[in-house]
Parts: sequence; structure tokens; C-alpha cells
Amino acid sequence: MNHSDCYFQNLNAQLKAQHRAIPCLLLDLDILDQNLDTLKTQLNPQAHLRIVDKSLPSFELIDYIMKKTNTQKIMCFHQPFLTDLATRLDHNADLLLGKPMPIKTARYFYDNLPNLPNQFNPFLQIQWLVDTEKRIIEYINLAAHLNQKIKLNIEIDVGLHRGGFDNIQALRRALHIINANSDKVQFSGLMGYDPHIVKIPAFLRHPKTALQESNRFYAQCQSLVKREFPNLWNTQLTFNGAGSPTFNLHNNDQSPLNDISIGSCLVKPTTFDIPTLKDYQAACFIATPILKKQKNTTIPGIEKFKNILNFINSKNKQSFFIYGGFWQADYHYPKGITQNALFGTSTNQAMLNAAANISLDVDDFVFLRPHQSEFVFLQFGEIISVRNGKLSEKWSLLKNN
Ligand SMILES: Cc1ncc(COP(=O)(O)O)c(C=O)c1O
Repeated sequence: MNHSDCYFQNLNAQLKAQHRAIPCLLLDLDILDQNLDTLKTQLNPQAHLRIVDKSLPSFELIDYIMKKTNTQKIMCFHQPFLTDLATRLDHNADLLLGKPMPIKTARYFYDNLPNLPNQFNPFLQIQWLVDTEKRIIEYINLAAHLNQKIKLNIEIDVGLHRGGFDNIQALRRALHIINANSDKVQFSGLMGYDPHIVKIPAFLRHPKTALQESNRFYAQCQSLVKREFPNLWNTQLTFNGAGSPTFNLHNNDQSPLNDISIGSCLVKPTTFDIPTLKDYQAACFIATPILKKQKNTTIPGIEKFKNILNFINSKNKQSFFIYGGFWQADYHYPKGITQNALFGTSTNQAMLNAAANISLDVDDFVFLRPHQSEFVFLQFGEIISVRNGKLSEKWSLLKNN
């Protein structure tokens, strides 16, 4: 038996010994620890690590990573997550929004804050992201309504073209508005996300050129603040950027960033099987039980072609119906199982096929690798951690409404 067989057969045996069998999300903490060790060798020591909540949407998981990496910084993408985090974090945390929140949603957040038992200060400890002059004015009005000063971080477009200020003149106007309202809002820095650097085909723009261009615009924005708005400038400003695909390209003096967001590479779903992340290992798997096993494969409407189908495709020798399916995920173990393309997809009971030599039975579990952790993790209600090959603690997910 190879390593992969041992690993998954051991998990299969343990899952079968549980009190109930439903689709579940497993997270291997030993692999997560290895990924964290790798991260420490690749992160620019001049930059703070900021944990991306949407990619690691469990408080226990975020807390585990915060302790292991000695950071209190989180990038937040969803108001319900923000509210949940505000109730659990203490006065040391620093939350930066990863996307601009509609002003209604920001106001809803403040108007519906529950008790904050750990002294989290929702005015001082949140940096709201603003991407247009209109939104800056909306947030200034919100601060006036709340009678509290709030922090604004400005999104800049460093080449992804997903919004944010993309030229110095427009950024200058935005900074003027913030400066003129410094009794209501405090400028807290810039955010420029740059995954396009490794996503653009190299023949269109080489990653090295894309990185240089992105860093150059970022540095121009920084020097605009420093030169023309000295009273907005201070050493505490957050200059956030990067993400899993690009953070290790920022481990040098040329990087303008002092704050780097990372989430997905720590659990490594399949979308992150990319060259810059080759040193990271997959730590998360979906496991789901087999409900039904059939010899050969029979497709409704074409029953009479069954024998031909089974003859031309050796994979049709066995078929299985699983609990659930149609996740954003790839079938991973046992090797060689595939979803039947003719039967059609099902979120209820997907049909899988396998060759005759694959030994699988009703109640065995099959394993999948999620394409992304964001959203997919939330579909399972909880995370089952694995430590030393044993199913361990159950971790809750961040509140989603
Ligand atoms: C603004 C921003 N920063 C950082 C990230 C990186 O997240 P991850 O490391 O999970 O790819 C994202 C992901 O979408 C993002 O939108």
C-alpha cells in the first residue's frame, strides 16, 4: 500500500466508525502545520501577515493560525463574518475589509452590533475599504450619523482591474476629501490586490513585468500620500496587498507592502495547485459515504446500449451512488473514480463509476479535493480536524447570516 492508500484508508475506517455518516469536511492539522512552517520561510519578514477569513471561515481555524503565526490581523469579506468576529476578538485585533461594503451594510453592522464581551472596538479596529469618491462621502456621512470617527482604507487598482483608484489624479481627489473630513474619518492606508501577476498568460505579460508595474503604481500612490498629504502619513498605515498566489513574490526590498493577506494556500484547494505554491500540500478534503453499489452502469433511456458502454469503457464496470455530490471539488480517492457524465449531475445522489479493480463498498467513504475553500467549507456545517491521522476536534464555521 502506498502512502496515499494508507492515509485515506485509515480515514475511511475512522469515518465508518463514527455515529453517523454524512458528507463532511476534513482538515488535516499536521499538513496545515507544515504549510504554516513553509509560509514562515516565504513571507517577507518586513510585512505583517493578515488572515483571509473567507478562505478559512472558522473561528477556531483562524484563532489556531493567529496563535501559530503571532498575528492579530484579519481580512474580512462578509458582514455576518465581521459581526461574528467582532464578538469573539479582543482589543488587539485589526480587521481590514477585503471588498467595499455597501453603505447600508456598514450601517446595519453598527446598528445591529451584539454585545462585544472581549472589548473589541468596532470604530478603532475596523478599516472599511473605499473604492470611489461617492463611497468615501457615504462613509463620512455614516461617521457623522454614528457620531464616531471611523477608519478608511483606499482600494487601488494595481492591474487586476476589479475596481479601486487607478490613477494618481483620482486618488489625490479622494485623499483631499478624507483630509477635509479628518474629524469624521481617519485614513488608514491602501489595499491593492495583485493575483493577475501570475494569472495573465506569460506571452501577454511576463509575471516579472506585471509585478514591477503593479509595485511601481503602488509606490507612486504611497509617495503621493507622503508628499502631498503629510498629515495623513504615519508609520502605522496599512499597505496591504498580495494573496496566496503572489505573496512569495513580495519577499524582497522592492515590495511596497507592509501587510500581506493569505488564506487559501494554507489549506490548498485545487485552484491553488500553481507553480508559486508548489511547496504547499493539500490539507482539506470532502469525505462522503457510498449509499448504493451496482455492477456495470445503466443509464435511463439507453439501457439497451449498456453492454456496449460497459465494453468500451472499463470504468463502467462498477457504479456507485454517493450521499450528495456536485460540489465544487474533484474526486480524489480512490484514484480512478469519476462522476458519470451521462447520468447527469446531482447534489442529492451523484453517480460515480470505477473500474473492476477498485475495491469500494456501500458505507465506504470517497474523498474529494475542493476547488476552493471559500464557500465550499460553508456547505458542511463544521470542520472535522485530523491530528496524527485521527479524527479530532469539530470546529464551527463563522456565522453566515
Ligand atoms: C483583496 C484580497 N486579498 C487577498 C486575497 C487572497 O486570499 P487567498 O489567499 O485565500 O487567495 C483575496 C482573495 O480573493 C482578495 O480578494
